[in-house]
Amino acid sequence: MYKVSQILPHETLDPDDWDSFRKLGHRMVDDMLDYLESIRERPAWQRAPEEIKRFFIADLPRESQTAEDIYEEFLEYVLPYPIGNIHPRFWGWVFGTGTVLGAMAEFLAAVMNTNAGDMDHHSANHVEKQVLTWIKEMLGYPVSASGLLTSGCSAANLIALIVARNAKAGYDLRSEGIKSGAKQMVLYASEEIHSSIQKAIEIIGLGNQALRRIPVDHDFQMNIPDLVAAVHKDRESGKEPFCVIGAAGTTNTAAFDDLGRLADFCSEEDLWFHVDGAFGAWAALTSSKNAVVGMERADSLAIDLHKWMYLQYDIGCVLVRNAALHKDAFFLRPAYLERAASEKGMTSGDLPWLTDYGFQLSRNFQALKAWMSIKEHGSRKIGRLIEQNINQAKFLADQIRDSKQLELMAPVSLNVVCFRYFSPEFSEGRMDKLNQEIMAELQESGIAVVSGTRIKGRFALHVAITNHRSAFSDFEILVGEVVKLGEQISKDLMKDRHNE
Ligand SMILES: Cc1ncc(COP(=O)(O)O)c(C=O)c1O
Repeated sequence: MYKVSQILPHETLDPDDWDSFRKLGHRMVDDMLDYLESIRERPAWQRAPEEIKRFFIADLPRESQTAEDIYEEFLEYVLPYPIGNIHPRFWGWVFGTGTVLGAMAEFLAAVMNTNAGDMDHHSANHVEKQVLTWIKEMLGYPVSASGLLTSGCSAANLIALIVARNAKAGYDLRSEGIKSGAKQMVLYASEEIHSSIQKAIEIIGLGNQALRRIPVDHDFQMNIPDLVAAVHKDRESGKEPFCVIGAAGTTNTAAFDDLGRLADFCSEEDLWFHVDGAFGAWAALTSSKNAVVGMERADSLAIDLHKWMYLQYDIGCVLVRNAALHKDAFFLRPAYLERAASEKGMTSGDLPWLTDYGFQLSRNFQALKAWMSIKEHGSRKIGRLIEQNINQAKFLADQIRDSKQLELMAPVSLNVVCFRYFSPEFSEGRMDKLNQEIMAELQESGIAVVSGTRIKGRFALHVAITNHRSAFSDFEILVGEVVKLGEQISKDLMKDRHNE
């Protein structure tokens, strides 16, 4: 006799044939390790051709396709056209490289497919809490602080500013919202602060006019007398100054605000002190740690681990000194998430859940790659790699200083070098054009990826070194190529000028 349930048809998404899937899985691992091992042999970037882009305008697959076929498509259409940041000569914007064990950890975490937001007595929450403790220790931040891994520094800045706004509103902002009659809450950051801060301010309903952009001095550091004057002026005109944001490494030039003086000022004026330390915070692990003195006094700190901790995207972190204020901003416990009445079961613990410190309920197990990578290398080696990148920035800066055709556009305070090819016969406008062309040609050639930015209005090649695969010789290649391209392109531009 069969039970009815035994004869009812039933499907799953698991492989029909585990053995052949296992073979495919092993092949994928081998291919990907080969790919990483030979990364130097490939271009830093190559443009995806039109036929590749067209491939992704396809009909919805209504029937099954084999995993083997899909993998072949991945090899042909996806893998050859990455943005390129795992390459040793990728230094555009501020991108991280990822580690090999980090890639494996992503797979392990995906197999577990744990939801790391809540519930008790499962490993993921403990791994994340462990990682948060290590981060605090590495950065010299109080261990009593609360924290949360995030998708990146944008999310970390957002969470920190939500906590700051609620803590400083002076009323129950969570329940009452932003009151139309209340004093306008305003906050301060240098004009070099990252755009994610503006986005966060817009998202939390303060409006971007609430952000006072304080001028910087010649080192691109916030001018503190201007900050003091702006706060006093705002108070006199009936505004409610509530927060100062210090930069520990700006995106443009890796400038550090004077965090110690900002911390003093904030405590004197009863202002929330937030630090955006996306990559620069990690200077704490190097001989440049003086740059971040004062960061440990911040009320909140936002950092990335997918930049200068070299981890796979995405992973960032927010830390908040006053854990209770952090939880006050996010804690919510509906009936379906109630803790168990007894000591048994998955909801029977009394430690806060990670979801209590952010806006996501379901969260992936990104802590695993951080835990494995920090254990694999240890904080000392990671510190040495960061130091190596700082020394590479100095090495590059020296080469630029030694070259008659190149010009440094900003002081090199850490790991970001802004420079340009210089031609005395060209106007500023033409020089911008020349360097934009150099950047684009360099990218198209696949030799290296650098990005562009503007320093005091002038276009600069932007080299942000957060890459553990770069060798010193890679920077010699960069300098040689920029000079070669600069000479060629200036000749073309001169011809254009004569023909105009
Ligand atoms: C200084 C700074 N803050 C914040 C961010 C935003 O970080 P994410 O891209 O991880 O969201 C960046 C990104 O480059 C940054 O450089």
